[in-house]
Amino acid sequence: MSVRALRNIMVTGGAGFIGSNFIRYLFSRPDFEGRIVNVDKLTYAGNPRSLEDIAGDYGGGRYALERVDICDTAGIVRIMEGWGIDTIVHFAAESHVDRSILGPREFVSTNIVGTFSLLEAARAVWKDRDDVLFHHVSTDEVYGSLGSDGFFLEETAYDPRSPYSASKASSDHLVRAYHHTYALAVTLSNCSNNYGPYQFPEKLIPLMILNMLEGRTLPVYGNGENIRDWLYVADHASAIWTILRSAEPGSTYNVGGENEWKNLRLVEELCGIVARHTGAAPERYRSLLRFVADRPGHDRRYAVSCARIRKELGWAPRVTFEEGLDSTVAWYLSHMDWVDSVRTGEYRRWIDLNYERRGG
Ligand code: NAD
Ligand code: TYD
Repeated sequence: MSVRALRNIMVTGGAGFIGSNFIRYLFSRPDFEGRIVNVDKLTYAGNPRSLEDIAGDYGGGRYALERVDICDTAGIVRIMEGWGIDTIVHFAAESHVDRSILGPREFVSTNIVGTFSLLEAARAVWKDRDDVLFHHVSTDEVYGSLGSDGFFLEETAYDPRSPYSASKASSDHLVRAYHHTYALAVTLSNCSNNYGPYQFPEKLIPLMILNMLEGRTLPVYGNGENIRDWLYVADHASAIWTILRSAEPGSTYNVGGENEWKNLRLVEELCGIVARHTGAAPERYRSLLRFVADRPGHDRRYAVSCARIRKELGWAPRVTFEEGLDSTVAWYLSHMDWVDSVRTGEYRRWIDLNYERRGG
């Protein structure tokens, strides 16, 4: 199997949760010698503080942040030409299902039109070069919702159900269309739910950890029986690294933690872990648990088969859920300054709006 060298990389959305962890992961690898330009619009979810140390260590030429909207094709072309970009890793997106229900417009704009604009820039700059790669980071939510058995395979028909997943499905189709129509070298990954450091505290795990610390209610949607498959974010980063280096253009890989949890059980488990760290009784946190109005169209179960990436590329998740949750809780407890820095104006308005909706 030949291995691609990673030289001049454009990471979109690198100031967000997974993108920042991915950049950190690349620089932690002794065999990574390339340069990274992080292209990020810095929405409410993007925070340059997440990479302050990386900017300090590598800002002299191997790393830079450019505040640019991916919808700005001319801006992207300028950066691609200036940096001699040969690899794009595309994370930038509106990523929260609840927000997509309350306001889908931004999701269509960034996830669909933004991906289209990036593809147009790549096609214009790269023409028919074959030593380049556009990697599109997507979600298992494009496959819809599972019953009590079975797994999402790469061949599973798309059946998105939220404005978020519909916009991601649409972007996946555009990426594949550019491969088939214009021979653009692309790869795709569809990943399950990520957790870990630097996740914006509107997603389940960090929201619950912080609510426990603040004595706020723990809002579990519906009956808490919905199931998600959780993957530690560094394992997602290593899967993308593996795909960038070894996958054939045109290929898609599902990535997941093989780690299914009902929401209610997961929140109860988290109460125990946070209690271990703070010295409080777990019951104190469990008493904050409330069942609240369900998310409209709430997908029942996600579960991903990683058989293809295991077999073809030799990737497997490494971090156990126990280790990953423990270190995530420890990280939030020791990074309250980061938490405070992201919970400013717009975030607070969102939280208040959401609590109103949930009657919490
Ligand atoms: P996030 O919301 O934490 O970060 C998104 C980043 O994109 C932010 O830094 C934001 O500023 C930036 N951004 C948004 N709109 C932009 C625009 N128009 N131009 C440039 N930058 C823009 O998201 P995340 O959780 O890190 O997810 C990253 C990617 O991974 C997304 O494509 C998402 O669909 C996918 N994904 C996420 C998960 C998960 O569990 N979080 C699972 C599978 C796939
Ligand atoms: P989330 O982290 O928003 O990810 P996604 O919707 O992309 O899977 O939610 C994970 C699960 O947790 C999902 O089934 C919805 C549920 N959930 C709650 O029960 N309460 C909450 O406050 C949040 C944010 C999510």
